[in-house]
Amino acid sequence: MKPLPWLVLLLFLGLNQQIVVTGTGDQFIYSGFTDTNLVLDGAAMVTAHGVLDLTNGSVRLKGHAIHPAPLRFHKFSSNSSTLQSFSVSFVFGIISPHPSNGFTFFISPSKNFSGALPTQYMGLLSDQNNGMATNHIFAIELDTIQNSEFQDMNDNHVGVDINSLHSVQSDSAGFYDDKHGTFNNLTLVSGDPMQVWVDYDQEATQINVTMAPLNLAKPARVLISTKHDLSTVLTESAYAGFSSAAGKANARHYVLGWSFAVDSPAPAIDIARLPKMPRLGGSKDLSKFLEIILPIAAAAAGALILVVFLLVRRHLRYAELREDWEVEFGPHRFSYKDLFLATQGFKDKYLLGSGGFGRVYKGLLPVSATEIAVKRVWHDSNQGMKEFITEVVSIGRLQHRNLVPLTGYCRRNSELLLVYEFMLNGSLDRYLFSEEGKPTLSWAQRFGIIKDIASALCYLHEECEKVVIHRDIKASNVLLDDEMNGRLGDFGLARLYDHGVDPQTTHLVGTIGYLAPELASTGKASPLTDVFSFGVFFLEVTCGQRPIRPNEEENQIMLVDWVLQHWQKGSPSDTVDGRLHGNYVDQEACLVLKLGLICSHPSMDARPSMRQVMQYLNGDMPLPELMIPAHMSFQTLALMQNEGFDPYVRSSYPSSMVSYGASPLTRHGYFPLENEIELGPQPGRGLHCHLICTQRTVGFMNK
Ligand SMILES: *[C@@H]1O[C@H](CO)[C@@H](O)[C@H](O)[C@H]1NC(C)=O
Ligand SMILES: *[C@@H]1O[C@H](CO)[C@@H](O)[C@H](O)[C@H]1NC(C)=O
Ligand SMILES: *[C@@H]1O[C@H](CO)[C@@H](O)[C@H](O)[C@H]1NC(C)=O
Ligand SMILES: *[C@@H]1O[C@H](CO)[C@@H](O)[C@H](O)[C@H]1NC(C)=O
Ligand SMILES: *[C@@H]1O[C@H](CO)[C@@H](O)[C@H](O)[C@H]1NC(C)=O
Repeated sequence: MKPLPWLVLLLFLGLNQQIVVTGTGDQFIYSGFTDTNLVLDGAAMVTAHGVLDLTNGSVRLKGHAIHPAPLRFHKFSSNSSTLQSFSVSFVFGIISPHPSNGFTFFISPSKNFSGALPTQYMGLLSDQNNGMATNHIFAIELDTIQNSEFQDMNDNHVGVDINSLHSVQSDSAGFYDDKHGTFNNLTLVSGDPMQVWVDYDQEATQINVTMAPLNLAKPARVLISTKHDLSTVLTESAYAGFSSAAGKANARHYVLGWSFAVDSPAPAIDIARLPKMPRLGGSKDLSKFLEIILPIAAAAAGALILVVFLLVRRHLRYAELREDWEVEFGPHRFSYKDLFLATQGFKDKYLLGSGGFGRVYKGLLPVSATEIAVKRVWHDSNQGMKEFITEVVSIGRLQHRNLVPLTGYCRRNSELLLVYEFMLNGSLDRYLFSEEGKPTLSWAQRFGIIKDIASALCYLHEECEKVVIHRDIKASNVLLDDEMNGRLGDFGLARLYDHGVDPQTTHLVGTIGYLAPELASTGKASPLTDVFSFGVFFLEVTCGQRPIRPNEEENQIMLVDWVLQHWQKGSPSDTVDGRLHGNYVDQEACLVLKLGLICSHPSMDARPSMRQVMQYLNGDMPLPELMIPAHMSFQTLALMQNEGFDPYVRSSYPSSMVSYGASPLTRHGYFPLENEIELGPQPGRGLHCHLICTQRTVGFMNK
């Protein structure tokens, strides 16, 4: 059987990178050296990628790689043996940072090279046996150093060696190209893979050596052709292999593929199946490369991912919402980033208070070093936003010394941030209702604050371009500046939640205890609903009490009714805040109490306008009489006023579900009060009766 079909079959099956076939005429082919049983000694090794590395980068260390089975070079006839022709090809590459020796392909009777010397002897021979016919060695040297001892022609040559490293014939490495027949130098130490063909023709006793770069076919013109009868040189059976022993560190002699045949041309090496030439100085350097470069690359990739992550996070963190119509408010627009930095990321530490429509944080603007208060208002729709910003944020218009100056705003998704001037003394309710020994306000301060807020409200209702209804007047919305002047805050904010078109869907906004009864039934805010709240505020400031508080029997006492009772009994002074210890002007206190009752009258028509309130306060006009039938409370009046009062509603109404209109938190009309401190039925407060008895008429109850 011919060996070639087997070879083809094995190639076809692709069983291995390396295919060794021994047939009648000995032959083999290695395409890479993975899993081969080459005899290796010294420095020789096969890399992980299947490349035969003869030197492993070490110095003066011999390395041999030998085909394990001896090859029969002679053919026996009846009474004699004759040497047969043979053919070899191999693909190699040399890397040599410093001038160093090359390597050889050899045919030798022995695998034992223990006596050979390194460097110029290339691990093949020694000074003891060089040139001796008993060596029976034939070799092709690929030498990269010029050694005068062996009369080397140059440091880049190919030589035919017979028993000696003094070549019988040598030539500069290179090839004649097939087209023009011109000679092309090849640099052995270039690191480029090259192929060598060695053909011995026994009949002609001719040794031909040809070489070419890996990507070229075997050139037609040989590089070396020399006549030598090898019959007496080669023993009947001999080993084929490679030897080397580099004289300098990091010189690499790689063999990628190898084929051999006796009595036929060497099988062609399929260069596509060869392992890649280790380009970067061998596996050792490669691993060093990986050791150094890989962590750097990994770190760089990690850093890149981190940077992208941070950029994305930063982008999300500081993302804002801007619309075309806002352009004109540009000067009042703050960047979210500035506000984020000013409040150190809205840290709880900087929380001034929460309630009304959101949380308020203290901040310090980095550039101007101005103190600000930032109110974060959650808002889930754009409805009302434009109106609000047009009315309130285009702040130039709303300037009054008793309004908390709004300096700007910022919008994000579902969030509106309002930037106010920081009020040094905080909100009024903390002075009025604080149990822990905060200094209470003197009567003069209280009266001043009442006048301040009246003046601010008068401005909003009657003096600025457009009527602005505050909708949420109460002690906690009154702030005190550094001179203890009252400043009204949160003006117009309620508008955000007031889309008031259809009374059925109208959203009540405000705070329980301050809501005018008609607001609950009609849902329409008006300056007079503000006046109602303002009246309650009067009483709060004078009495130092919250608008609703429980009494001993767990009933809720309305501050208005409590004051009214005393008024009707002729002892209004009994309601004045005990913490004043009688240090107040009786006349002024009575004025404020009576005015408070008039303002909080359940009937809209009985309430004065803010301009009139100002006149009464300033004593420019005498107070009218209080139009309340004797022994009737406001509460009763309000109930009578709004028909459809169901006494069971009050007791069965879940206190945590007090309908407060579609809030930012709920869309279907219920407001979880726990979330809004100012609105909640807390100890000392409770639900305003006016609101409760009118739930049904406003259509909030899902009965
Ligand atoms: C080279 O191989 C020899 C023998 O296997 C070993 O002792 C030496 O450490 C190797 N040198 C390098 C640089 O790997
Ligand atoms: C055997 O060898 C001798 C010489 O050694 C030679 O003369 C003779 O012709 C050979 N016989 C054959 C059959 O080749
Ligand atoms: C190799 O040859 C040396 C002498 O050159 C000899 O001492 C040694 O025993 C031989 N080794 C083997 C394994 O034959
Ligand atoms: C090839 O190299 C030899 C020796 O280095 C030099 O003399 C010759 O000019 C080179 N030939 C070409 C074509 O580069
Ligand atoms: C060797 O080369 C010569 C020409 O230089 C050629 O005639 C001969 O056939 C070649 N021999 C082999 C075995 O390739």
